[in-house]
Amino acid sequence: MTADNRIVLSSDHTAIPLRQTIAAHIAAQGWAVVDIGPTTAESTHYPAHGEAAARRVASGDCRFGILLCGTGQGIMMAANKVRGIRCGVCAETFSARMIRQHNDANMLSIGVRVVGEGLALDIVDAFLASKFEGGRHATRVEMITALES
Ligand code: RB5
Repeated sequence: MTADNRIVLSSDHTAIPLRQTIAAHIAAQGWAVVDIGPTTAESTHYPAHGEAAARRVASGDCRFGILLCGTGQGIMMAANKVRGIRCGVCAETFSARMIRQHNDANMLSIGVRVVGEGLALDIVDAFLASKFEGGRHATRVEMITALES
């Protein structure tokens, strides 16, 4: 297992079954899944889970991260506070492709109360299949990074 094929998954309590479905789906594609929970449906706080997953990506331990909460929004906001993280919420596949191609996103967030399981898996596939295009987009991503200092 290398950092290049490792994906960290996390969620809050709203999305545990979908997170586990996504974990099995990407593991079957050959990705090494680092599922950092939570595992019980007890109410929990999405910022802590977003941060924990984001730190795995920011440190280089995992290539990508996939986050889930009710809307995908709160956990995305928390992850994006960690230096080096570019996380987008997606509810359709076009954006999932574009956040890789244009924004070099390293994390994807999905709302379990927004999309069904089939669409969520398609969004994950679109995200993971897409590559950063660089060029003029690299300049813009560098400008995002510059905002961190
Ligand atoms: C939990 O009820 C809910 O607020 C959370 O999952 C998420 O939607 C926050 O953005």
